[in-house]
Amino acid sequence: MVQENNATELLRWYVESGIDEALEEQPVNRFKAPEPAIQKPSPLPTAPVSQPEGVADAGGTPPAIMPPPVTPTAPRPPKELVSRNEAMKSARDAAKAADSLEALREAMANFEGCPLKQTAKSLVFGDGATSANLMFIGEAPGAEEDRQGLPFVGPAGQLLDRMLAAISLQRSDVYITNMLPWRPPGNRTPTDSEIAACMPFIERHIELVSPKILILVGGTAAKTLLNTTQGIMRTRGKWLDYNREGLATPIPARAILHPDYLLRSPAQKRETWMDLLEIQQRLNDTNQ
Ligand code: URA
Repeated sequence: MVQENNATELLRWYVESGIDEALEEQPVNRFKAPEPAIQKPSPLPTAPVSQPEGVADAGGTPPAIMPPPVTPTAPRPPKELVSRNEAMKSARDAAKAADSLEALREAMANFEGCPLKQTAKSLVFGDGATSANLMFIGEAPGAEEDRQGLPFVGPAGQLLDRMLAAISLQRSDVYITNMLPWRPPGNRTPTDSEIAACMPFIERHIELVSPKILILVGGTAAKTLLNTTQGIMRTRGKWLDYNREGLATPIPARAILHPDYLLRSPAQKRETWMDLLEIQQRLNDTNQ
């Protein structure tokens, strides 16, 4: 009995720490440093080494061999930086070549530049009407989204559905996606490198859906797509422009508080209600 309780406690601790998926039969220790590469000793010179004149080789000891002089090389950029740039270039090329949402999904499925792909179960691409005037962009899938392969279907998604219903919209009236298509382990905040690697995909996603209005759900989407360092409390509550090279015209964008945050801070729902009314008004004006 005691053992069973310990096991339950351990499982609870895992779940609370964000370890809520069994990915493989055997655990992988990703913190373990890779085995150092074994360096082969350089071959000894074959030419006879001459003794300096007048120095007797008293006991027949072999002469000391001096290592070859080290030639200084140009400093190399840190490895992470190189791979981050490579990942961004490969994402840019793949995104640019995608001429439809299907092609974009395929390009993302083949992309190897974001390590989150290794730990996620699904590629969460998008949901809703691809011809919608209103496009919502969140941060990254959570556990339920990863399980179902659809964005915003967990607790935050259920609240988002209620927020839409409050302004007479359903999921099928809008298009929903995320900055990142793969779930960060334990729902941690994505790193700058992960966001940068996937950025060309979300930019192309916006171009292909070509919405009339963009809703940036939460601080990560707002900061990144509005290219600002300001927090969500400053960017919310006003209309801003999403602009990128190649867009015919900037897209009006509105940042809103993330439903995950609203679940934890229900008092902020009031602010969000005001934002939703403004969005409804703008959408009605656009549709006229
Ligand atoms: N949070 C997000 O930002 N996106 C989802 O899809 C789910 C939760």
